[in-house]
Amino acid sequence: MNSNKDKLVIFDTTLRDGEQSPGASMTKEEKIRIATMLERMRVDVIEAGFAIASQGDFEAVQAVAETVKDSRVCSLARAVGPDILRAGEALKNANASRIHTFIATSPIHMKYKLQMEPEDVLRQAVEAVKTARQFTDDVEFSLEDGSRSEPDFMYRIIEEVIKAGAGTINIPDTVGYGEPGEYGAMFKRVIENVPNSDKAIFSTHCHNDLGLAVANSLSAVMNGVRQVECTINGLGERAGNASLEEIVMAVRTRQDLYPVETRIDTSHIVPTSRLVSSITGFPVQPNKAIVGANAFAHESGIHQDGVLKHRETYEIMRAEDVGWGQNRLVLGKHSGRAAVKARYEELGVTFADSAEFNVLFQRFKDLADKKHEIFDEDLQSLISGAAEPVEHYQLVDLEVRSKSGSNPQAQLELKIDGENRSCNAEGSGPVDATFKAIESVVGSNADLKLYSVNAVTQGTDSQGSVTVRLERDGKLVNGVGADTDILVASAKAYLDALNLLASKSRKPEGV
Ligand code: KIV
Ligand code: ZN
Repeated sequence: MNSNKDKLVIFDTTLRDGEQSPGASMTKEEKIRIATMLERMRVDVIEAGFAIASQGDFEAVQAVAETVKDSRVCSLARAVGPDILRAGEALKNANASRIHTFIATSPIHMKYKLQMEPEDVLRQAVEAVKTARQFTDDVEFSLEDGSRSEPDFMYRIIEEVIKAGAGTINIPDTVGYGEPGEYGAMFKRVIENVPNSDKAIFSTHCHNDLGLAVANSLSAVMNGVRQVECTINGLGERAGNASLEEIVMAVRTRQDLYPVETRIDTSHIVPTSRLVSSITGFPVQPNKAIVGANAFAHESGIHQDGVLKHRETYEIMRAEDVGWGQNRLVLGKHSGRAAVKARYEELGVTFADSAEFNVLFQRFKDLADKKHEIFDEDLQSLISGAAEPVEHYQLVDLEVRSKSGSNPQAQLELKIDGENRSCNAEGSGPVDATFKAIESVVGSNADLKLYSVNAVTQGTDSQGSVTVRLERDGKLVNGVGADTDILVASAKAYLDALNLLASKSRKPEGV
């Protein structure tokens, strides 16, 4: 790192705020996989979850804390004793831990949500920070809805929580209402008006409701902020959070402007983006900055000509610096177990036991029979569901007949809790027929909220990666499936979503 620049702390909250996106919930094993990639990328702080939210969240924070060694691991906690105790307990084996405690400070949140007087909010915040300090010497305090809070109240509460031992002060734009000039100026005033502001690092946490999350975060950096909270692919509540890859690459590409630098190894950005997308089932839009499939593709003749003559005419970053083009042809039909396992490990995928690896190896063999060249993206597409202890619904066989001018017919054989069941249906298209056939035996009563197909790699032999989002009783899940046959991928994605829904109910439907 260049010594005359300040360090910008990269705080990744993909596993906490990212997971709060509808349908993006992740298993403990999936969180460990993503955390391992974030650690390789040299993220400074990984917010692994909200330990008190559920037993699953607690165990995921605990597992990430026990796995990750080079990044600090953090748990969120409301500013109340039981939350902080639970966070402290989950983090107790971490190499380096942080408790991130928060309370709302805006008039609207205090009056209607908390129904508390500002003085009580202040007292509770100070108490929470003191309690958190009993578990770790690294405590972050967030003023929820900070960007809509009264300046004088913010100054007081920040001064008091710093005195109580908070080392990082985060002022989130919780509702994505901020505007870059205004949000940056707010930090400048806070830093000038809080007498002990030099004792803490100030942090931004921006939501993207107006599409300004990255711009707001960078404006805050220009005004003294030295930690940015962000997520891979901008995953997060509603319109998402500030995207890690955009922040990191903006700061790196515009070294002439920003007074900071990060320690991120940017070559891991694209593989991590792919991993998050395949685990959550949230595709990355092709024109997404840095990680979208078209981010470095020059289509127009004028651009291509310029790039060929002198790359910098149209390219401000090098694709390989963010991890594009590293997707080597890795494996093929004759590759053995050791080679496949080693490549998975390089991709940050570890296996709890040999049974879990066996499931993946079989999927690899099946794919290699159909597709000669297996790329990293293919390997990642095989991961979904491999670590699940029980798959209630499995696809055994699928046949679809489709002819122009008549309705397609789908005939499937499924395995439902070990028992083979046949089903068939007619639909307005082949996918519709396939889903109707599945529903004719399962009867899930779930609503289909999203169906999307994306090519995993290039070429017509590419696998299609399908995402199916289902909702039932307020629970949203994203099922994913990949196959060289997109109808098979669609059936797998639908069944994956049904498995996710069933994993929370006592008995699977259709049995
Ligand atoms: O958006 C927000 O305010 C949050 C806080 C809990 C930091 O996520
Ligand atoms: Zn948030």
